Amino acid sequence: MLAGSTPGTRYNLTLSGSSPRSMRHKAPPYMHDVLPVPPSVDAWLHTPRWRALERIFRDVCRLHGYREIRTPVMESTDLFARSVGAGTDIVSKEMFTFTDRGERSMTLRAEGTAPVVRAFLENGLASGGSMTKLYYIATIYRYEHGQRGRYREHQQTGIEALGGASPAVDAEVIALAVAFLTRLGIADVALRLNSVGCPTCRPGYLAALLAFAEKRLGLMSRDNRRRFEENPLRMLDSKDPDDHAALEGAPVLRSYLCAECGDHFTELRAHLDDLGIAYELDDRLVRGLDYYTRTAFEFVSPQLGAQDVIGGGGRYDGLIEQCGGPPTPGVGFGIGTERCLMVLDRLEASMMLEDERPIAYVISPGAATSRRAVAMVAELRRAGISAETDYLGRSIKAQMRTANKLGAQWAVILGEVELARNAAAVKNLRNSDEQREIPISGLVSFILDHLHNRVE
Ligand code: HAM
Repeated sequence: MLAGSTPGTRYNLTLSGSSPRSMRHKAPPYMHDVLPVPPSVDAWLHTPRWRALERIFRDVCRLHGYREIRTPVMESTDLFARSVGAGTDIVSKEMFTFTDRGERSMTLRAEGTAPVVRAFLENGLASGGSMTKLYYIATIYRYEHGQRGRYREHQQTGIEALGGASPAVDAEVIALAVAFLTRLGIADVALRLNSVGCPTCRPGYLAALLAFAEKRLGLMSRDNRRRFEENPLRMLDSKDPDDHAALEGAPVLRSYLCAECGDHFTELRAHLDDLGIAYELDDRLVRGLDYYTRTAFEFVSPQLGAQDVIGGGGRYDGLIEQCGGPPTPGVGFGIGTERCLMVLDRLEASMMLEDERPIAYVISPGAATSRRAVAMVAELRRAGISAETDYLGRSIKAQMRTANKLGAQWAVILGEVELARNAAAVKNLRNSDEQREIPISGLVSFILDHLHNRVE
């Protein structure tokens, strides 16, 4: 339940006490504003960096044949409860769930895969016999208890490949993630790999794990004793050192795989070797969502503290059927935008940021010329030249300071003397060239010629 709300609450919006004008609001806890200028702490909360990351992700997806899907920010609660699993942390304690005005239980997107599967089925995106390869950039909501790298709103870049059972598809999904991280400049990541089997072989493993863990329950944390009852596989990835020690020598899932799961894993490893993608086998990697079958993987960065996983994914061959579709295999990943940008910040890596500086700043010395300035920025913008002017009636000196501060390339000064000759004074602020006079009728082509390096 959304904290502080009860089903069907109608909020009383009349304010008592302080006047509405004196109210200062804050962003919701563990959610962030992303700003046009980098904040002094958390410089990664800077929109140009987010756009650069998104641009690289879109380009890598295009190269691999994935197409964009966007789904609503909320879904019916049941979709997440059934697909992610009632016993998972996400469903049992982290969802932002509320009752809408039609008495439906709704949940803000708690992960990306189930909504994509729902949309795939609802819109008939299965393309007879071939695969459907989708990508998304989506905000995700989880009621976390606030740690660095663990927020209540975060963004994932993710892909889902639907309709392909071959381990070559798992390899493509992992290769796309590696290509994305490499293009971003995050080369120093470890890929951890495991197989979590399938409904044929997992029960045998779970029986062996439960028999082993039962004798050591007294040594384990309260959380792991609960997992023993509710979701035993998850005991394996407890971060508690006592749990770790208690499960030392526990049976290993990969030794219990059926022949098909075993072959799938062997072939995936061969593909990764062919692609030159290094990985570490991790017996305890089980992931926090119940839909996984066979392949499970995570990317871990040494640059992050406790929340060191920058992305993860795997195969989910039963999910589409479970969501009411025909048996259809699937595999994908989600990579956390915040964690990637935090790693890049630690690495002090420079990203290819879009140049947001205006090309022209039109300076108007007084009220008489300000109408001309407003018309001129409109004309420059129509020609595709980013342009700014002053709306505050400030001095030429102050306007020039702003032009420099914004990093404008050209100051276009509408001096009365020049205007009388239907001309403007133009100065390149990014080099030390002399100011020159240009006829207003030729201003657009003068700036465009310089932009496109047609003149010195
Ligand atoms: P997930 O492991 O829950 O997987 O999330 C993927 C990534 O999102 C994590 O590795 C982490 O980087 C980031 N992330 C998760 N929770 C938070 C948080 N509270 N704050 C900041 N970042 C976070 C999934 O959600 C699956 N749907 C991935 C997938 C797609 N599997 C198959 N297809």
